[in-house]
Amino acid sequence: MTDSPLRFDEVHFRHVHRRRGDVEVLRGLSFALSPGDRVALVGRSGSGKSTVLALASGRLTATSGTVSVAGADLGAMTIDERARVRLSQISHVHQDFRLLPRYSARENVELPLLLQGVSRVEARERAIRALERVDLAARADHRTTELSGGEQQRVAIARAVVRPPALLLADEPTGALDAGLRDEILALLFETCEGAAILLVTHDPAVAEAADRILELPRLGSADAHPAR
Ligand SMILES: Nc1ncnc2c1ncn2[C@@H]1O[C@H](COP(=O)(O)OP(=O)(O)OP(=O)(O)O)[C@@H](O)[C@H]1O
Ligand SMILES: [Mg+2]
Repeated sequence: MTDSPLRFDEVHFRHVHRRRGDVEVLRGLSFALSPGDRVALVGRSGSGKSTVLALASGRLTATSGTVSVAGADLGAMTIDERARVRLSQISHVHQDFRLLPRYSARENVELPLLLQGVSRVEARERAIRALERVDLAARADHRTTELSGGEQQRVAIARAVVRPPALLLADEPTGALDAGLRDEILALLFETCEGAAILLVTHDPAVAEAADRILELPRLGSADAHPAR
């Protein structure tokens, strides 16, 4: 049996603030993704969807429980080891895009390739091709701060698909796009990440519909437990 690309076992997470008070976000969340799974992660604003993605990419560490990527426990790794897992296996489209502001669209998309040791010439070609696929070739040399919200979102998508990951984490990846572009971008994500596990945060029923299954986070404070599966 191959290891699951992403697995949560009884994950609890709380933000700890001595003065402002702790915020409990996840209370015993368990699920596993198989290669090729497309799962929509839904729930009210503040229910912890972005937190789940940050735990899955090792940017946050579970308060208790285990988060593993390809069978390896992120909680048992050093910061450098987690960064290597991200670089080699994960593409993460952030809710707030997280593009580098002083760099062009192309440079932002090249970055994961350069960090992986791809040559400058090849990285450039592949970045331009990825930008063409999100219809932004004409903006390749513009700084990301000079782009509209929807254009920035498409740069973030291009950066995620410039190398196919084993695990795609996408946080409302089409939230800034109109319906026509949304369908195109979703198709691009699915096509590039074919065979990868996809965890897709969305508030859009049309996007959730395109997934194989739905994982819904309850609001804590209510009596519901996290759906275990
Ligand atoms: N640094 C922090 N310190 C304390 N609480 C935080 C911190 N960051 C987030 N939270 C809280 O954690 C909870 C979960 O936040 P998260 O961003 O995961 O929600 P979300 O489901 O992605 O919401 P949205 O749909 O609005 O994006 C929220 O109640 C939020 O206020
Ligand atoms: Mg969020």
